[in-house]
Amino acid sequence: MNILLLGTGGREHALAWKIDQSNKVKNLYIAPGNAGTSDIGENINISLSDFEAVKKVVIDKEVDLVVVGPEQPLVDGIVDFFALDSDIKNIPIIGPSKLGAKLEGSKDFAKAFMQKYQIPTARYQSFNKKTIVDGKRFLETLSAPYVLKADGLAAGKGVLILDDLEQAQTSLENMLNGQFGEASKTVVIEEFLKGIELSVFIVTDGKSYKLLPEAKDYKRIGEGDTGLNTGGMGAVSPVPFADKEFLSKVEERVIKPTIDGLIKENIKYKGFIFFGLMNVKGDPYVIEYNVRMGDPETEVVIPRIKSDLVDLFVHTANSTLENAELIIDENFCTTVMLVSEGYPEKYEKGKKITNLEKVKESIIFHAGTINKDDHVYTNGGRVIAISSYGENMDAALLKSYRNIDAIKFEGKNYRKDIGFDLKE
Ligand code: AMP
Ligand code: GLY
Repeated sequence: MNILLLGTGGREHALAWKIDQSNKVKNLYIAPGNAGTSDIGENINISLSDFEAVKKVVIDKEVDLVVVGPEQPLVDGIVDFFALDSDIKNIPIIGPSKLGAKLEGSKDFAKAFMQKYQIPTARYQSFNKKTIVDGKRFLETLSAPYVLKADGLAAGKGVLILDDLEQAQTSLENMLNGQFGEASKTVVIEEFLKGIELSVFIVTDGKSYKLLPEAKDYKRIGEGDTGLNTGGMGAVSPVPFADKEFLSKVEERVIKPTIDGLIKENIKYKGFIFFGLMNVKGDPYVIEYNVRMGDPETEVVIPRIKSDLVDLFVHTANSTLENAELIIDENFCTTVMLVSEGYPEKYEKGKKITNLEKVKESIIFHAGTINKDDHVYTNGGRVIAISSYGENMDAALLKSYRNIDAIKFEGKNYRKDIGFDLKE
């Protein structure tokens, strides 16, 4: 088969790494990819907002299966674009329809869906410019901290958590007046949930699903979960507190009702669902849906899948997922993200990365990197994820951190406490 993988980050390098291990694959194309994916397949430099350009690649390269990494093209309707184009409508594409992608693309839609199908989530209401006064009043009925969410995609920055009521009311006004552009024309206000977060993933063909390994992500830039939010600074899998009992609550209360809801709403969905969950005293609550895999969670989840990922995709596309084989590695996998100095604010690109060949017993997943004159240079805020296996979390972390010491680039920064909060 010829496979086209869309995306550019560490998530896509991890997916490409795993796809490449399948004996079903003849050619793998990654668009646009990064320096890491160019070692595995052929990078094709197109913009993912240009669906015609994607179609041209599919036709020119005789692609048999498309896998979508990031959310934006899904929210923009790439799956519907394929379905409606007579030239490519028979090419399977892994990702939800535009309506399904609203589970991530509109928080208001996701909350209403959860409420309708009785999926545990924080109590909420949505407001727009016309109902700003009601929004301020709703805030008064809640207690601090106050959670305000831009309805649409806001590059991971659309959630504000505020301790002070007046500040929350002012923020509501600012958001509705365009702080996050179109994305905050509607704002979801919800109750604050106190607990520990984790990410649970499934792949679904729209009728049945396979539970993938769960993971914990470290979102803040600073040690001890301090400072600004990032795309994610590291991850571990499995999550020790996500025991059998907890995961069975997740399946019964969250995953199955979500699939039932998709069926009842007639939402076409063949792809990943990422449940961002809060464990509140042993009970799961949905913080958010994502319609794709997480990054850097993919860099620990995918390495723990032993069976053939392409086979899983083919079953997903054919609506035969219940017959697919999924074998999970019992080992732990950890990843630590190397980032550019200054990230998640201003940072420089174009720093030469050296000593990658010295990495032993870990997998290097490139995120923001680029090849120039036979060398690898930094090309983003998150640069490289170092993933390692171990029979326990400490053994895996030890390998990730030892290899991080070896890799050099100017301004290299990383969190030194990935997984520490999970130790007994
Ligand atoms: P989201 O973009 O919805 O994942 O929100 C970003 C982050 O805000 C989450 O990862 C949580 O840490 C936090 N958060 C969102 N909603 C809530 C909530 N209702 N209670 C507590 N924390 C929340
Ligand atoms: N690491 C969080 C995300 O991918 O949304």
